[in-house]
Amino acid sequence: MNYLSPSMLSIDFGNVENSIKRVVSAGTDYIHVDVMDGLFVPNISFGPPVISYVKKAAGDTILDVHLMIHKPERYVDVFKEVGADILTIHYESTDDVKGTIRLIKDAGMAVGVALKPATPVSVLEDIIDELDMVLVMSVEPGFGGQSFIEESYERIREARRLVDARNPECNIEVDGGIGLDNLKRVLDAGANVIVAGSAIFKNDIEKNIADFKRIMDEV
Ligand code: DX5
Ligand code: ZN
Repeated sequence: MNYLSPSMLSIDFGNVENSIKRVVSAGTDYIHVDVMDGLFVPNISFGPPVISYVKKAAGDTILDVHLMIHKPERYVDVFKEVGADILTIHYESTDDVKGTIRLIKDAGMAVGVALKPATPVSVLEDIIDELDMVLVMSVEPGFGGQSFIEESYERIREARRLVDARNPECNIEVDGGIGLDNLKRVLDAGANVIVAGSAIFKNDIEKNIADFKRIMDEV
């Protein structure tokens, strides 16, 4: 099953409530929420109070929260409280990946682990059994609107082989530089959760979602 997760990093922040409601009524599966602390990545986005507001506008739609913050173990309970359903941490952001995975599960959320483009996919071998989602970054985390890194296709295939062999229920999410031009290749490589920011929030949100979903439902 494929899931679309529009990234609200590219939302019109003057119209957050209305834009979230449009994405939800256009039939999105998830809403992707990028949290950046200016330390793990060279950009600052928004934090928990904004997420509770998004949760209210999103109703039952799953909040897919991507933490790009240093030592995320400090904030697991806070993100649970404001309504995260899936909480994804970066492998590179903590000395205690396994402990943080455990904290997230104990708090009752689905857990994901994200890899920056330079982190070998093989680091997942040790933790794959515990995961609900693997996030393969196809740009350097930090900013929307960058170009998809070509080497990511091979990394997605590698993640797919590992997931199929060890934990077939685990989702594979890909984030960064995805548009209608490369969506099919990303799906064919083995991704089943698609993040897109600029490609969804630019111009006509309803049409963009329909175009994405058409390709995603074909595969
Ligand atoms: C980048 C973020 C992405 C970003 C994707 O660090 O994790 O979610 O918003 O934006 P696009 O789809 O514009 O590359
Ligand atoms: Zn993201």
